[in-house]
Amino acid sequence: MSAKRRKKTQEAHVITIAKLRDKRGNLSVIEDNGLLPFSIARTYWIYDVPGGESRGGHAYFKSEEFIIALSGSFEVNIHDGNGEQTFQLGRCNKGLYVPAGTWRRIQNFATNSIALVITSTAYSPKDYIRDFDTFVKLKQNGQL
Ligand code: TYD
Repeated sequence: MSAKRRKKTQEAHVITIAKLRDKRGNLSVIEDNGLLPFSIARTYWIYDVPGGESRGGHAYFKSEEFIIALSGSFEVNIHDGNGEQTFQLGRCNKGLYVPAGTWRRIQNFATNSIALVITSTAYSPKDYIRDFDTFVKLKQNGQL
């Protein structure tokens, strides 16, 4: 299937992935065909999260992400420099698009949850902003 790439936006938002319903079990697929507002470079997943833990209190300079709860449920808390918002994810066919320059934390994992993260860049430690005050200053100065 070919489709025009989804328009880039600075707003985090939920994107629904088609569900191929089947009595043998449902199937969903993401290709680099325009469903996401970026071209896919990397995929990783977070699992075996102990109760009460959270992951990813940081922002990226360049990397955009799409986060799906492949199993279980969790929250993604995001901050754009002005205000914060929390999205609850718990469906295999819905994910959260997180633009670059967004502080984000994944939290309140239900037992045995799996967070699949699809990103627009290869891994680079230099792309991380790990200090929240630095993040806010970069946003305020228009550097992010
Ligand atoms: P990190 O992104 O800091 O985890 P968190 O989601 O809690 O912020 O990554 C944890 C460790 O895994 C860190 O040492 C870097 C490594 N890592 C990779 O090597 N490649 C990757 O693609 C990612 C996401 C992490």
